[in-house]
Amino acid sequence: MADKYQARQGKTLTLSVFARRKRDGDKLVVLTAYDLTSALIAAGGGVDAILVGDSLGMVVLGHENTLAVTMDDMVHHCRAVVRARPRVPVIVDMPYGSFHVSPAETVRHALRLVKDGGAHGVKVEGGRRRGAVIRALIDAEIPVMGHLGLTPQSVNKLGGYKVQGRDAASAARLRADAQLLVEWGCFALVLECVPSPLAATVSKEIEIPTIGIGAGAGCDGQVLVFHDMLGLYTGLKPKFVKRYADLAETAREAVARFTDEVRRGVFPAAEHEYDDNAAVPEKNDPAVDKAPPGYLADMEAEKG
Ligand code: KIV
Repeated sequence: MADKYQARQGKTLTLSVFARRKRDGDKLVVLTAYDLTSALIAAGGGVDAILVGDSLGMVVLGHENTLAVTMDDMVHHCRAVVRARPRVPVIVDMPYGSFHVSPAETVRHALRLVKDGGAHGVKVEGGRRRGAVIRALIDAEIPVMGHLGLTPQSVNKLGGYKVQGRDAASAARLRADAQLLVEWGCFALVLECVPSPLAATVSKEIEIPTIGIGAGAGCDGQVLVFHDMLGLYTGLKPKFVKRYADLAETAREAVARFTDEVRRGVFPAAEHEYDDNAAVPEKNDPAVDKAPPGYLADMEAEKG
């Protein structure tokens, strides 16, 4: 019988992992990634899926929120993630403005994310008002992940980043929206910043998996932003973020050592230098040996 965590054994997971984990009562683990390095780290850590989130607008591109992120940004970063060959499904956010004009334009944008970006599915923020576009995407064979609760692209309308679904009316609306996303054919649903009891209720009520972020342990899975959980992005730390490392501090210390060693003439040392006739030791470089199969060949082909 195939192991439940196939990606960790070098096998490839597809989007069917979402339904399978829900059916078997196993938690789904999703992490964002935005480039080759973050995708290799996420996949190496055994996640079930990668989300190329439009959070890249804030943690990579330095925007104040996600609204400025463009289709070109998403395609560019999705391609970099896919080049890592992570062997898990790659889902990409449809950026603000890319699904707000018409179903036809939405499908054209999503096709770009699939054909040029290499994504396996797209994520769309919002509930009942997104029916026409979500149905059009699914008609075009593009798998869709929904996103309810705090939808960061609505930051201006919501007046900030606030917990959603706290009163009875908005909780009922969220539960009804979750049912609609199931009816329209979404394969999973992100629940962001909603009270844990509400998220647990929704998770029990619907047949597709819920992926929580600030929505408690009752969700079918969890997602975090790569830079948040590794302590790389230190600008803002929402309550729901757990920092599993403090890489910004580690990196700052490493840069300070490099700075100091260059200034004192300690780096480079003899072992970092080439003499006149030594070959460049590409084949024996441990970093090269650890590269995933095909990745270097792909890079060579792209260069050529
Ligand atoms: O953009 C993003 O990273 C997201 C996750 C936080 C769910 O939408």
